[in-house]
Amino acid sequence: MEKKRILTGDRPTGPLHLGHYVGSIANRVKFQDSYDTFIIIADIQALTTNFDKPGRLRQDVLNVTMDNIACGVDPQKATIFVQSMVPAIAELTIIYANLVTVQQLLHNPTIKTEAVQYNYEESMPYGFLGYPVSQAADITFCRAHLVPVGEDQAPHIELTRKIVRKFNAIYARVLVEPEQILNPRLIGLDGNTKMSKSLGNAIYLSDSPAEVKRKVNSAVTDPARIHPTDKGHPEVCVVFSYHKTFNTEESTDVEERCRAGTIGCVPCKVRLNEVLNRFLEPIRQRRSELEKKPDELWDILNQGTARARAEGESTMALVRQAMKTDYFLVSRNC
Ligand code: TRP
Repeated sequence: MEKKRILTGDRPTGPLHLGHYVGSIANRVKFQDSYDTFIIIADIQALTTNFDKPGRLRQDVLNVTMDNIACGVDPQKATIFVQSMVPAIAELTIIYANLVTVQQLLHNPTIKTEAVQYNYEESMPYGFLGYPVSQAADITFCRAHLVPVGEDQAPHIELTRKIVRKFNAIYARVLVEPEQILNPRLIGLDGNTKMSKSLGNAIYLSDSPAEVKRKVNSAVTDPARIHPTDKGHPEVCVVFSYHKTFNTEESTDVEERCRAGTIGCVPCKVRLNEVLNRFLEPIRQRRSELEKKPDELWDILNQGTARARAEGESTMALVRQAMKTDYFLVSRNC
């Protein structure tokens, strides 16, 4: 049986952090053997909030590529490609624009949250408001079945499904209605519900051991614990939640000792720092090897993009036929 297809990806806006690892890359590595995996480097989407800083894109496309590969995404198995180099995505975005209302986009909760973050509430670029439409094109141009993403992306997947149903009902059943696979979420160092670059509460995959140590020391712990012998509440502690994610074997022990007041926050952080650095060290090493070979990375992206373009062209042939815009392929007499 043919493998089902996955599409997922990132905006290239800087190096990736542990939140990206837990929230998406880990699943990419896990799924790449059993699914035909496409990973989009969404440079056009990155421009919707950074259109005045195009100079950063080139390096950030490489950053995201290196982070994925350093974490174990295998370019022999997964197709990694650049969004702006796939014309079908731009073409489908325009076609889908007719199938979506401005009101629908204005009510999208993720757009609302991000609009506050980027100061777009009063004056919102059309490209930003419309990026979920472009994301529907990212997902459907290669007829993906599954989209592993965090819950903040759920409104975009829902919109994609609506667009697909509308397209298929009006023109012909050529598009695949994708389903979301819900990825886990990692909280930020400050206790915010999400680790994120813009919130400044992230540990990056490329952070040095000294940076990781400094950040772990700054992580929010149970505020009710003043003395190391006070009984702790691990459920409100960022350090404990990282132990649970990255130090599974010891986490029950850490939890019990915290509750009993037999481990202080300082040794608990020291241990977490060791665990994180042990986890990050091989990633750092692979990443620093990759940094020396940008040509190989561009080759990987070039090959992945060629495959994505070919997929896009075959979808576009079906789309043009369904929409009756395949003018030059049908008899000229009618
Ligand atoms: N919006 C996603 C994010 O902010 C990135 C993205 C762009 C994406 N296109 C996609 C994710 C298609 C999944 C599928 O992280």
